[in-house]
Formats: sequence, C-alpha cells, structure tokens
Amino acid sequence: MATQTTPPRPQLVKGARASRTTIALKLGMAISGIVFLAFVLAHMYGNLKAFGGHDAFNEYAEHLRELGEPMLPHEGALWILRVGLIASLVVHVYCAVTLWRRAARARTTKYVMKKDTGANRASLTMRWGGLTILIFLVWHLLNFTIGKVNPQGGETNDPYNLMVDTFDLWWMTLIYIAAMLALGAHLHHGIWSAAQTLGWTGTAAKRNRAKVVAFVIALIITIGFSLVPLAVLAGIITK
Ligand code: HEM
Repeated sequence: MATQTTPPRPQLVKGARASRTTIALKLGMAISGIVFLAFVLAHMYGNLKAFGGHDAFNEYAEHLRELGEPMLPHEGALWILRVGLIASLVVHVYCAVTLWRRAARARTTKYVMKKDTGANRASLTMRWGGLTILIFLVWHLLNFTIGKVNPQGGETNDPYNLMVDTFDLWWMTLIYIAAMLALGAHLHHGIWSAAQTLGWTGTAAKRNRAKVVAFVIALIITIGFSLVPLAVLAGIITK
C-alpha cells in the first residue's frame, strides 16, 4: 500500500535553511576569531621581547621578515600571514554584520526592553567593542607599520625606538590601554561564544571550563599587551 507523505510546509523549509545559514555564519565567526586569537598571542609574545632591550626586540622584528627564506622571498611568510589576517577580518566582519541584520529582521515587532538582560549587554559589548578594536587597528597600523608616525616627531625606521617614543607619551599609553581593555572584553565573550558554536559547552562542567578558559585567555592578553606601554611610561623600558 502506497503511503502518502505530505510535503513540508514552505515556512518549515525556509526556517531550516535560515538556521543552517545562521550556523554557517557563527562558524565563520568562530574560525576567523581563532585565527585572530593565535595572531594576538604570538604578537603579544613578540612585544614582550622589548623587556630584553633594543637589540632583542629589533632582531625579533627582523627575524619575522626573514622567516621561510630562501624558499620564500624576503617578507614572504609575513605577507602570507598578512593575507590570512585580512581574509579573516573580512569573514569576521561580514558574518557579524549579517548575523545582526538577521536578528533585527527576525524581530517583526519592536519590543520595549524592560530589563537589562545579560544577553543584551553582551551583544552591545561585542558590537561597540568590535568597532573600537577596528578603529584601534587602523590607528595602530598608521602608527607602527603603514604610516610609521612618530608622535614625538623623532625617527621612524627603528621599531624599538618608535615604540619607546610612542609610549613615552601618557595619552598614547592611555589610548592603547583603553583599546586593550576593549580587546579583553571582546575576547572574553567571543571565546565563550565560539566554544558554544563549536559544541564545547554541552554539560555544566564543560560550560564552567569554557568560561574559565575564556576569562583567563582574555586576562593574559589584556595584561600581556599592556605591560610594554606601562613599562615605557614608568621608565623601565628606555631607549
Ligand atoms: C600594546 C599593544 C600593542 C603594541 C605595543 C603593538 C606593537 C606593534 C609593533 C611595534 C608593530 C610593528 C612590528 C614591526 O614593524 O615589526 C606592530 C604591528 C602590528 N600589530 Fe601591534 N601592537 C599592539 C597590539 C596589537 C593588537 C591588539 C593587534 C590586533 C588586534 C595588533 C595588530 C598588529 C598588526 C596587524 C601589525 C602589522 C604586522 C605586519 O603586517 O607587519 N597589535 N604592533
């Protein structure tokens, strides 16, 4: 006897497709976020070489440019890294903006928020924090790589001296510390979100572990990056 199957309702098909797209976008955010996380950890480690003095820091910066030679041309590996970072940035921002737009569209009626929920606070932190980090990045690259702007008007071709000149100014150190706090808050929530997307929060024990890991990594990065500017301002790292 032939069984009759009713075709799924169009809304259900649309709904399933929409949730698949949401998962793909969240995966895009998590994977590109992990690429950034690996980069900032390596960058933070490199910056801490400043405590080893002028030569230790500059030799490290030069070594980065020689990586992969002679198989790769000078700065070849650095350019591969730069292309990877730019691609990750495009994916991260595209997925974030698309997810926000979809969430806003899903709300057919505008609701009045009576209570400030944790989820609302977290999503505001992520949006404004993300934008702050993006603005910081433009400023940072103009300062140290693309523009090489020495705010004290001194030399620009020596990475160590440029860094000391920059953070000798209290307001530059303040800008960097504020940006690192924004980065820490962004990473704290971002790592937790990525853990959820990747299915690492299935049990109460796993959730607790993910929360601790997210907090500890965010703290290490915020403090690790802030140490060099503060040490310059305190006169511990000098030219
Ligand atoms: C206190 C915090 C920071 C300090 C002192 C710092 C310092 C520096 C310095 C000195 C350079 C130039 C290195 C060279 O010429 O070899 C540089 C490059 C760079 N930094 Fe930072 N940085 C900080 C935080 C960050 C953060 C949080 C990010 C990312 C969100 C970042 C992203 C970059 C990028 C993309 C480059 C260019 C790498 C390249 O293409 O050569 N930095 N940074």
